[in-house]
Amino acid sequence: MANGRGCESARWQIAYSQSRSLATSCHRRKFMVQDYLEKILIDEPQLQARIKELGQQISVDYVGKDLLLLCILKGGVLFLTDLMRQITIPHEIDFLAVSSYDKGTRASSGVVRILKDLDNPINNRHVLIVEDIIDSGFTLDYITRLLTARQPASIRICTLLDKHERRAVDIPVDYVGFVIPNEYVFGYGLDLDQKFRNLPFIGVAKSGE
Ligand code: PRP
Repeated sequence: MANGRGCESARWQIAYSQSRSLATSCHRRKFMVQDYLEKILIDEPQLQARIKELGQQISVDYVGKDLLLLCILKGGVLFLTDLMRQITIPHEIDFLAVSSYDKGTRASSGVVRILKDLDNPINNRHVLIVEDIIDSGFTLDYITRLLTARQPASIRICTLLDKHERRAVDIPVDYVGFVIPNEYVFGYGLDLDQKFRNLPFIGVAKSGE
């Protein structure tokens, strides 16, 4: 993985300059990404190339199976929509929204609150959880235990990012886009104070943000 600095993609260069002039004219620099972005960790071509590889592998692994992609809101949304376009076998999608538990209590409990449950039962279905990032692992540990009780035919995990050195609970991860260092990342579904999920790349936040 390259830790490129600056604006690698032409589209992003255009958006970046537009946002700079908009910021100047509207005096809203506080909300401009360049104020928070230290560097681009994974650029758009790298992301899309790896997602294509994952989609191809999943299409082979699940051929002939009743595949359900289960996206964990909100961060997994961009990854899901790009990944499913690279999957060439029939499949369905569903969404699970969970609460972001208090950071201070993560190590002690890891309890996650379900905000939006799945629309349909998953018994006898092949469930592939699609997540943006695994950090401590507490969220997915809770979700997989919850879903396993519903007796799916199988349950696997596909994460775009794996901050492996932060893992506090051992969970099996079947598909990984990128193993990343322990830095605060945002973009491509991941938020910074609920903003910037729309960025087409994964960026590292400036320290202190
Ligand atoms: C992020 C991410 C995972 C979780 C991973 O969600 O999407 O669900 O944190 O952390 P963990 O491995 O330490 O449990 P977040 O709480 O930021 O919510 P969001 O997806 O709605 O932004």
